[in-house]
Amino acid sequence: MTLPPSGPAGQPRSSRLTRPDLDALPAYVPGRNPADLAREVGLPEAIKLASNEVPYGPLPGVVEAVAEAAAGVHRYPDMGVVALREKLAQHVGVSADRIATGCGSVALCEHLIRATCLPGDEVVYSWRSFEAYPIIAATAAVTSIRVPNTEAHGHDLAKMAAAVTERTRVVLVCNPNNPTGTAVGRAELDEFLAAVPETVLVVIDEAYREFVTDPDVPDGIAAYGDRPNVAVLRTLSKAWGLAGLRIGYLVAQPDVAAAVRKVVTPFSTSAVAQAAALAALDASAEVRRRCELVIAERDRLTEAVRKQVPEVPESQANFIWLPLGDRSAPFAAACEARGVIVRPFQGDGVRVTVGTPAENDAFLAAAYASGEL
Ligand SMILES: Cc1ncc(COP(=O)(O)O)c(C=O)c1O
Repeated sequence: MTLPPSGPAGQPRSSRLTRPDLDALPAYVPGRNPADLAREVGLPEAIKLASNEVPYGPLPGVVEAVAEAAAGVHRYPDMGVVALREKLAQHVGVSADRIATGCGSVALCEHLIRATCLPGDEVVYSWRSFEAYPIIAATAAVTSIRVPNTEAHGHDLAKMAAAVTERTRVVLVCNPNNPTGTAVGRAELDEFLAAVPETVLVVIDEAYREFVTDPDVPDGIAAYGDRPNVAVLRTLSKAWGLAGLRIGYLVAQPDVAAAVRKVVTPFSTSAVAQAAALAALDASAEVRRRCELVIAERDRLTEAVRKQVPEVPESQANFIWLPLGDRSAPFAAACEARGVIVRPFQGDGVRVTVGTPAENDAFLAAAYASGEL
């Protein structure tokens, strides 16, 4: 029996099993493992300031909630994530039909693209920004339109609005921006949203919202949540200390949230993650306290590194950005040789996560000793 051709327009498919266009895709680079580095450089321990985690451990009540939920892991989780969506809804002041949860906000970003774009559509974002964006776009066969960051390392919202075409389905606004820490303010965002057609979804990625101190940087849900074409991504990975459990959420209008819930991988918000998130949300005073510690250290670090690198932008997140250009990789290597893992972005800059005061001191010592600043 002859099998019918399965390629487009009757063309035979290539003999390879996977999509050739994926070859050009950069792999997502996770932060290095500190235990491996410590062994490699012969130190008792290494410090990881590379993945934007908060260093103070799980929030009170989380470990107990995880242990309790662990007793039920032979059962599937609540697929509708009902209790947690209700609690998140109260937390941000919207109705639960406007919430979708996912396996980290990175997964929700992927689901949003899947729910809005067809192959060949366009997604606009600033660059450099969160390194998952190009990967998410490419895997969905969506064209990335990258608008270069301003000289001050922030989004150029006017140019981003101008980059919207008839093919654009989504604009991603990373606020504050990873990895540069810069944030866009209210007037700029108002103007941008007024310029973008209502048929284009504006996704405001607020993974670092809890660290924002500039009163001019709006809370995307409070300021723009009522707009039909705005969706806001938040995560419990950073300020809420649940990076390892993978849980993020999205706030959008009910139709957009419902479409995203349809494309979410079934059961991808695990029972343990749901229980942990419910417990974490009861500890918001402790979250605030920890964020204040991080913010104070962020400002201390910024001031210290600016003595050597005055162009370090003001950060509204839990990391700082050192625009070192070609010195980025040697600087990161020199820090690693001294047991401190930071995150270089080849030829561009280095992102340093704010750690505990002692970790930050270790970073500063390594940075000064590196000879690369
Ligand atoms: C801007 C931004 N969005 C989303 C995420 C994803 O976070 P998670 O998938 O852990 O919720 C990150 C993580 O680094 C980020 O920097």
